[in-house]
Amino acid sequence: MSILICFGTRPEAIKMAPVCIKLKEQGIPFKLCVTAQHREMLDQVLHFFELQPDYDLNLMQPNQSLNQLSARILENIDLVFKKEKFDLLLVHGDTTTSTIAALAAFHNGVKVGHVEAGLRTYNKQAPYPEELNRQLTGKIADYHFAPTQKAKQNLLNEAISDSTIAVTGNTVIDALFITLNKIKSGYKNKFIESVSQKVDFDKKVVLVTGHRRESFGDGFKNICNAILKIAAIDNVEIVYPVHLNPNVQKIVYQMLSNKPNIHLINPLDYPAFVWLMSKSTLIISDSGGIQEEAPSLNIPVLVTRDVTEREEGVKNGCSYLVGTNVDTIIHRAKTLLKTTSTTNQLKNPYGEGNAANKIIHFLSKSINL
Ligand code: UD1
Ligand code: UDP
Repeated sequence: MSILICFGTRPEAIKMAPVCIKLKEQGIPFKLCVTAQHREMLDQVLHFFELQPDYDLNLMQPNQSLNQLSARILENIDLVFKKEKFDLLLVHGDTTTSTIAALAAFHNGVKVGHVEAGLRTYNKQAPYPEELNRQLTGKIADYHFAPTQKAKQNLLNEAISDSTIAVTGNTVIDALFITLNKIKSGYKNKFIESVSQKVDFDKKVVLVTGHRRESFGDGFKNICNAILKIAAIDNVEIVYPVHLNPNVQKIVYQMLSNKPNIHLINPLDYPAFVWLMSKSTLIISDSGGIQEEAPSLNIPVLVTRDVTEREEGVKNGCSYLVGTNVDTIIHRAKTLLKTTSTTNQLKNPYGEGNAANKIIHFLSKSINL
């Protein structure tokens, strides 16, 4: 059985790194192809987890359109399938890379395993275009690794056969624990040192991220206006690693630059970001991965989206769906900044840190690895 793993963006790399690490530990050979849908943000992750791609398609272009990117991925990954014979492609989540790579595998008669399968909003506009990407990948896939029971139920409701689905937890929790263990044993780097010097950690740190296409325009303006008001609360430091998408950079730097307690910084590498999350009082974000990681660190997340495919965290009180309404964001932030210091550790609904093992175990039962 010859396996190809393909990913292209920061979150896919973080979430597939534990699978790559476990395959290596168990001596199961595989090849790694990166589309480099992201470049710098992908490279940060490859470096930290010591992953060397066998194929680097190097496809990112500034402010790329979805169709141009899709066409380039389809054409270039086809060359990989023509060069080498694979029996199984493993892809992750809901990105353009995962859907188009899965389609290319199908065109080449290669089976597809989908990690982080079954999350749904059933709203094609949110997250856009990720909801449809994930549904399409689910249609193409032969094996489905659902992080939660709810995700499995979504797949069963779509008439996907029970025998092809495994509930594994989310591999991001594996990545988080690998990283926290390194930090506990003294790991430091230039990003951690630079943030330590800039930020006053005696104050309450509010960590912000954002990148969703459906919030471009008014949504992002509202979020920035809310951040300005939260920064005016006594004893608060805002730290915002700004996503490299130019549509995000422009508005965030325009609206939030030159405020003494708002630190706009470049994206952090994964260990520095995990370290910073662990030192924060509150996170404001539209990120999928952060909604999953934060419960393990007991940090509440205000989710600046109207709907989320990660409902488990909202239901058990780990995260709060606040949309992009200025007043709702400020109100919830004020309440949480007052009350978070003594909250009990809630159970993380997204996993326990052993998802990669479960994926490999399921594959070795289903096919001859
Ligand atoms: C993509 C994924 C989204 C995921 C997000 C994670 C799709 C459709 N979207 O969105 O699901 O949540 O990544 O961050 O697949 N850029 C750089 N350097 C980088 C990364 C991005 O300069 O390292 C800039 C480039 O100008 C690029 C732009 O950001 O064209 C947009 O990147 P793209 O991957 O197309 O979209 P994201 O919004 O990052
Ligand atoms: N992250 C990171 N550096 C940052 C911001 C986020 O390493 O500056 C990590 C974060 O811990 C999470 C992942 O990147 O694991 C989330 O990526 P993103 O929000 O870009 O994508 P999404 O999860 O929404 O698809």
